[in-house]
Amino acid sequence: MPTAKINEMDLVLDEGSSESLLSVLRGALHLDGAKQGCDNGSCGHCLVLVDGQPAKACCLSVPEIAGRKILTIEAIAPDDTHPLRRAWREERVANCGHCQSAQMVAAAHFLASSPCPTRRQIQQAPRHVICRCATNPRITHAILRAAALQSGD
Ligand code: FES
Repeated sequence: MPTAKINEMDLVLDEGSSESLLSVLRGALHLDGAKQGCDNGSCGHCLVLVDGQPAKACCLSVPEIAGRKILTIEAIAPDDTHPLRRAWREERVANCGHCQSAQMVAAAHFLASSPCPTRRQIQQAPRHVICRCATNPRITHAILRAAALQSGD
């Protein structure tokens, strides 16, 4: 049987399943950090990392994740002491909050390759996640803050 690794846990996959990765995460695995928004690849609220790259969990079927390594927000920023969670809290980023786990997943991916970004680099980075309640300026502040926390400032 094919498997996928989800947050370091091996998951045996049903090859005939038409379920989405998002459905598996939120259902059987009780990992509800990835949110269901549009369910068609538009909003990015379900963002996870697949083999280190941002991917929309609603757009991946169970057979498509065979052999892949998936990280969700629960493994990327596991508790309140993580720099991303601290930065998000300190900058009071969340408004409705629906997209914020996905925003942190995107930020983790960005900071992995740009650990000391400028404001401009953050603003020019690809937007994987749409926020509909205008938190983007605070997200930029929080990414700068997370970078500083990660570097020990
Ligand atoms: Fe997956 Fe919107 S819920 S992109």
